Amino acid sequence: MDYFKARVAKLLVDYFENDFRRISHALEVLKHSEIIMENAECCDYEILVASALLHDIGIKQSEEILGYNNGKTQEEYGPPVAEKLLNSISFPHGKILKVCEIIANHHSPSRYDYVELKILKEADRIVNKLEGD
Ligand SMILES: [Fe+2]
Repeated sequence: MDYFKARVAKLLVDYFENDFRRISHALEVLKHSEIIMENAECCDYEILVASALLHDIGIKQSEEILGYNNGKTQEEYGPPVAEKLLNSISFPHGKILKVCEIIANHHSPSRYDYVELKILKEADRIVNKLEGD
């Protein structure tokens, strides 16, 4: 798919609007995911990009509906939003499913043996530490 990274970045920016902290976090997680990917065994680059950029996409709805967010609510609210956004750019259904599984599992013990999930978790950990969370 042409300009895939830019397409997903636009979805992220349009969705989070002026929440620059979330946008910046997602871009940093993608940057670190790409660095880790260079030394990983194998990886679907589009799945990694979509997972990295959209991994915290559930935060907005969680805060709007519940008034708070945490790892568990991010995992719950994120996948339906990610599915809708990725459908809007005609991302293949099978890949959307995997991205949603990754988002639904990025804050808890891994239920899937996906290298993209492993990379995302590691990149998120690094960025959270750098951001002082
Ligand atoms: Fe994160």
